[in-house]
Amino acid sequence: MTTAWWRDAVFYEIYVRSFTDTDGDGLGDLPGIRSRLGYLRDLGVDAIWLTPFYPSPDADHGYDVADHTDVDPRFGTLADFDALLADAHALGLRVLVDVVPNHTSEEHAWFRNALSDPEHPDRRRYLFRPGRDGGPPNGWTSAFGGSAWQLERRSGEYYLHLFAPEQPDLDWHNETVQRDFEEVLRFWLDRGVDGFRIDVAQGLFKDQSFAEMEEPDPPTWHADWVTAVNQPELHPLYRRWRRLADGYEGDRSFVGEVVLENQERVADYVRPDELQLAFNLALLWDDWDAAAMRATIDRTHTAMSAVGAVATWVLENHDVPRVATRYGGGAEGRRRARAAALLLLALPGAVFLYQGQELGLEEVDIPDQLRQDPLFFHSGGARQGRDGCRVPMPWTTTGPGFGFTAAEPWLPMPEEFGRRSVDAQTEDPASTLELYRFALAHRLEGAFAWLDGPSGTLVFRRGDVVCLVNVDAPALELPSGELLVASESVADALAPAAAAWVRTG
Ligand code: NOJ
Repeated sequence: MTTAWWRDAVFYEIYVRSFTDTDGDGLGDLPGIRSRLGYLRDLGVDAIWLTPFYPSPDADHGYDVADHTDVDPRFGTLADFDALLADAHALGLRVLVDVVPNHTSEEHAWFRNALSDPEHPDRRRYLFRPGRDGGPPNGWTSAFGGSAWQLERRSGEYYLHLFAPEQPDLDWHNETVQRDFEEVLRFWLDRGVDGFRIDVAQGLFKDQSFAEMEEPDPPTWHADWVTAVNQPELHPLYRRWRRLADGYEGDRSFVGEVVLENQERVADYVRPDELQLAFNLALLWDDWDAAAMRATIDRTHTAMSAVGAVATWVLENHDVPRVATRYGGGAEGRRRARAAALLLLALPGAVFLYQGQELGLEEVDIPDQLRQDPLFFHSGGARQGRDGCRVPMPWTTTGPGFGFTAAEPWLPMPEEFGRRSVDAQTEDPASTLELYRFALAHRLEGAFAWLDGPSGTLVFRRGDVVCLVNVDAPALELPSGELLVASESVADALAPAAAAWVRTG
């Protein structure tokens, strides 16, 4: 029987290397996550998503997988994973793992075989092509900068990598690749995972003509590679994956990282017999701008309801600057982020939180010499990369490890993390952590309907509760009723950058 538990679930993304270190190497690990499950249950989330913890040389911090069915010794063992899963289930938390099917690590046995001998069948798992006019086969670009093709000197051929050169793309038109990944899914489903987050879900099949990419003009926040990827072959594939998961008890589910700006295209991935959920990154790409946010909410609802899917809402993940910083930073950015939390948890559908979001953490400015993200290096320093949102979680008030580690954390944790730590915020009614705890415990239900509000505001009803967000209007009067929660203390009207839930009966 399907429970569709995911329809209104709150998922919490754990960036494994930054959550809790128990073996003293300055990197988070699976036993560390296990030791914090009580915190997550009390926070009030329904499920956790673990970023890759598989053996990896770390060219892209785990998104370069060298073995899809094992645990990197730095993060623990398969037995640690089983123990974590069992404890999570005992606490009523579901667990999603990341599946990274678009590419492997260059150190995966398949790629090593592919390089060892041009006749090796594993070479056909990847996309090796001859060059053109003394250069790469075409002008496709990598998300991390530069050409998406790497010359293999020995053969004179190039291989495709939409991300780092150490992440060769797989050829999904090769049926062996398709079969292998079904085995990977089964491996984790057999162990009891509740589902998967699919990395680069729109990217697996490439346009077989390798025609030049046509990018949107003006360019979007994220390069969509619109014509090179997002191929029709993905849909029969995801239907097969869905049938595979449906063959297991317990409503196992998929969330696709479908990074397309166009919500109508994203909706194709969540038709009834395909993936259950797809990330909706549109709200995350919006500025603190009421009209833009309202348009995104409407467009999302329209696109998802057209296929009978539920919306998902995301404001943070391990790839983007923290929301308080995106909204301007400092005290004002933090106020906006608190107001946005009440918006996020009032919307109908599934919500994805990123660790530390509930603490109101801001982006950390890492000195260049300590940066680790390949994006920084591959762009020659032109792009700062994603380290600033990946700084480890502060649990206690004193550094340098703030309860994350007894050793040196893998990225430096700033002094102010003490004030933002879980210990510092717990039981402080004015803290962002307690705001999240309250909102998670009282998520709104019932039909969604916009209500009238002045320009610069978002006002809507869910059942008998009205959610009011004053984005940047001079003031937003509260309706009469019971004030359930507000992002800051409030009398009769909300100041700009504040939000509230009011039960109007
Ligand atoms: C999306 C992941 O979230 C990101 O961290 C990674 O670099 C790319 N996919 C490539 O795997």
